[in-house]
Amino acid sequence: MIKVILGAQWGDEGKGKFTDYLSSDADLCIRFQGGNNAGHTIVIDNKKFKLRMIPSGIITNSKCIIGAGTVINLDQLEEEVETLKNQGIKINSENLFIDSKATLVIPFIYPKIDSIREAKTNSPIGTTKNGIGIAYEDKAARIALRAEDIINLNLSNIKNISKKYFYAVNNNFYDYKDLESSLIKWCLNKQKIWSRYIIDTSEMVYNSFIENKNVIIEGAQGAMLDNTLGTYPYVTSSCTTIGGVSQGIGCALPRDCEVLGIVKAYTTRVGKGPLESEMPEEENKISEYISDRGGEFGTVTGRKRRIGWLDLDVIKKTHIMNGYTSLAITKADVLSGLSTLKVLVNGKYIEVPCWKSVLDESGNFTESFSSYVKMIEDHVGVKVKYISYSPERSDIKEFV
Ligand code: GTP
Ligand code: IMP
Ligand code: MG
Repeated sequence: MIKVILGAQWGDEGKGKFTDYLSSDADLCIRFQGGNNAGHTIVIDNKKFKLRMIPSGIITNSKCIIGAGTVINLDQLEEEVETLKNQGIKINSENLFIDSKATLVIPFIYPKIDSIREAKTNSPIGTTKNGIGIAYEDKAARIALRAEDIINLNLSNIKNISKKYFYAVNNNFYDYKDLESSLIKWCLNKQKIWSRYIIDTSEMVYNSFIENKNVIIEGAQGAMLDNTLGTYPYVTSSCTTIGGVSQGIGCALPRDCEVLGIVKAYTTRVGKGPLESEMPEEENKISEYISDRGGEFGTVTGRKRRIGWLDLDVIKKTHIMNGYTSLAITKADVLSGLSTLKVLVNGKYIEVPCWKSVLDESGNFTESFSSYVKMIEDHVGVKVKYISYSPERSDIKEFV
């Protein structure tokens, strides 16, 4: 079975938790887009694992691929591997693969350009300043370095990148030749560490499909941040929706796959851009309650996430983009204890009662919570399959 896990809002819905949960019997787990702008947190028996680039299936020791559609900061990846290894996770070139076609984030150029641009432009996006957009721009401009280019040095693009950026980063470099030699040196250094992880993974993915293996495809960010379909220009630079999957894994996605849309029980957004259901100033107390209980601060930047009510028009819109076969609702526990909830439906707010707790004393879903879930199903036209009610891996229950 192939399961694709996608964010149905603006990211941070809990895709990492579900990827880990569904990876318990997975043969392969693939990340198809984005870079270290993502932050997935997985909690197992109170122990926290933080992932940015490595697919969440690594925790259950599934084979993991960082796919062709991603942009990779290899310096950061080294840190991530180190931290996870120190937490007892096995990572080596037998269980982690990097697709040769993935684009590289140049750590000493792209984040800096991203930051300069955010500071100087008259319409900042509120990026994570990791240089993700710069990497995708250079990919589109056909001058980026790809993972395979550190094995056989792509001198032509090394020169192109040096010429393009030496002036902007020239507090260290006088002309492009200096930047060029730094880039060559960096590539050679990365070659020593990463060469054995880099392969063309398309066939491996294809074989796993025809052998009916269990494959989990993990998204990052959310549909509303999709470069084409999201709230442009306040979006990320990758295709975060189902349309990006085949390209991002280097293999046609079979039609009979499951597409699980991850829906936070309310709405959050980091960075700028429209957020129709955002709580106004007078609902500050409620948004603080949610922010505190939900820990709504960015994993990557530490920024406070903006808080809004559940917007079912957004979920419906992203269902049209993604074709969810089922939904998972996360963080319902965060809302517990509020009196009334607002939900945006057909452009208008409706008020619904909240729940004291998601589960009753016998471990069944409470009536008020079940009605909330049914309202989601009715409006979106997709069944809710799972409910997550704490950060812990074990706290997921099927909704039947
Ligand atoms: P991006 O790829 O960055 O969009 O992230 P993500 O979708 O993997 O989500 P992320 O881990 O950034 O954010 C979800 C946060 O909520 C994490 O800290 C989780 O541990 C936590 N979390 C997940 N599910 C639940 C839940 O049901 N209840 C509560 N209280 N916390 C949850
Ligand atoms: P970038 O991807 O760093 O270029 O940022 C572009 C927009 O996407 C900004 O609004 C970011 O806050 C947002 N963004 C990027 N990655 C994530 C994520 O993993 N979760 C939530 N928002 C994100
Ligand atoms: Mg996140």
